[in-house]
Amino acid sequence: MRDMFAQDSDRFSRFSLQVDDLFLDYSRNRMTDQTIQLLCNMAQQHNLSQRIEALFNGEAVNTTEHRPALHTALRDTNQNAVSDLVVAERARLYEFVNEVRHGKFRHIVNVGIGGSYLGPLMTTHALKEFASPNLNFYFISCVDKAHLDEVLAHIDPETTLFIISSKSFTTFETLLNAQILKRWMEEKVGKNAVSNHFVAVTSAKDKAQAQGFAAERIFPVWEWVGGRYSIWSAIGLPLILMIGTQGFDEFLAGARAMDEHFRGADFDKNMPVLLALLGVWYTNFFEAGAHVIAPYSQRLRYLIPYLQQADMESNGKRVSHQRELLPYQTSPVIFGEAGCNAQHTYHQLLHQGTRLIPVDFILVKSPENTQQDDVLFASAVSQAQALMSGEAHAEAHRTLPGNRPSNIILLNQLTPRSLGMLLALYEHKIFVQGVIWNVNSFDQWGVELGKQLLPRILSQLEGKGDDPALMGLIKQYRGT
Ligand code: F6P
Repeated sequence: MRDMFAQDSDRFSRFSLQVDDLFLDYSRNRMTDQTIQLLCNMAQQHNLSQRIEALFNGEAVNTTEHRPALHTALRDTNQNAVSDLVVAERARLYEFVNEVRHGKFRHIVNVGIGGSYLGPLMTTHALKEFASPNLNFYFISCVDKAHLDEVLAHIDPETTLFIISSKSFTTFETLLNAQILKRWMEEKVGKNAVSNHFVAVTSAKDKAQAQGFAAERIFPVWEWVGGRYSIWSAIGLPLILMIGTQGFDEFLAGARAMDEHFRGADFDKNMPVLLALLGVWYTNFFEAGAHVIAPYSQRLRYLIPYLQQADMESNGKRVSHQRELLPYQTSPVIFGEAGCNAQHTYHQLLHQGTRLIPVDFILVKSPENTQQDDVLFASAVSQAQALMSGEAHAEAHRTLPGNRPSNIILLNQLTPRSLGMLLALYEHKIFVQGVIWNVNSFDQWGVELGKQLLPRILSQLEGKGDDPALMGLIKQYRGT
């Protein structure tokens, strides 16, 4: 790469791209124009254009569950089979949001896990500057008494709204936490706690009703919206409460702008396609097993777990659509840390370790241009430069080999719109990789066995099972 930059003063302008509020500099990659051309040809051979249309047109792209993945329809309500439904339910949701924003609630507790947690957590953290001043947000995801007690210590029951968010309404952690919280609230505010202080977001209305939720307190997320793609639905309720309906509309519009770009741009000028192909390039041609997400913005710190679920739950697969074992690698391990912190933890390995690990640096332009903003920008760029150029040294332990790839994604401020664009960018990147790898990016069968084993282990803890392999461990745990 050092040589490529030295020989080509135009490299930055040829390998960078502006789409609306997002700018991508992908010049620090091991590639030439020909590499990009060949990768684009490969995408064509995988019928990527048709597959993109199939996604947007609501074909059953989730082949194991025989359903579409129509998260894009949640941000384009103009002309599709589900738009009437989406428009009607969003109107009902917005009405509720406006009531809450002008009502007595001051504390909002989101109870949910996975996609029913990470999207709301990440976006409400990212867009705090756009928050309504009166609401405080809390998140309960895992089953952990210490965490739950900590949240309860902060809230005032009389002015707290609980959002029980679970697409399936069968997720053990969420249902247990909901049960504990309902009991706690009934003790605090009386028997009308559920009807006055709880709402549910789910695709299983019947299950929520069976748990005491009235129909008008249930907001839908549909079967055709995957959990990790659900922030655009009522799962985004905490975000809508925080930034208001207009702010949420801008968030949706940002994603829609990226959808339009993805659908319309040629592959070699298509931001999600380019990021996806470069990812495939490193995963399958250079055996890169990991990929770093490095947001240089504390506001974007939860983007890392969000993208871990988005990417690894989508493409962490080992069989093809035809149910055959794949002879090549799929999703890399996604990890990261916000800002300069990463430089002081694992960047040593990125610069001098034995593995090739590409990095996405995500930077945010600040309107103020403070000294801290400049230092953040310069820190990220110096890391990207050092990874690319390396440094020769007489002593081996001080030599940095360089030639290590990275992308720089620059957001034109952190706004609902630019965040919407960024999330849609990664959704589509992941989709394209799923197409190239020929995997179903929209199921997650791998998590099922653990869910099934949980009740069995619980009964053994209660002395009802007798799996000899677990006896020793259970005795240790019980201290018996
Ligand atoms: O981790 C498995 C999973 O099914 C995720 O795909 C999902 O986001 C999460 O559990 C929570 O599921 P639910 O919203 O149905 O509670």
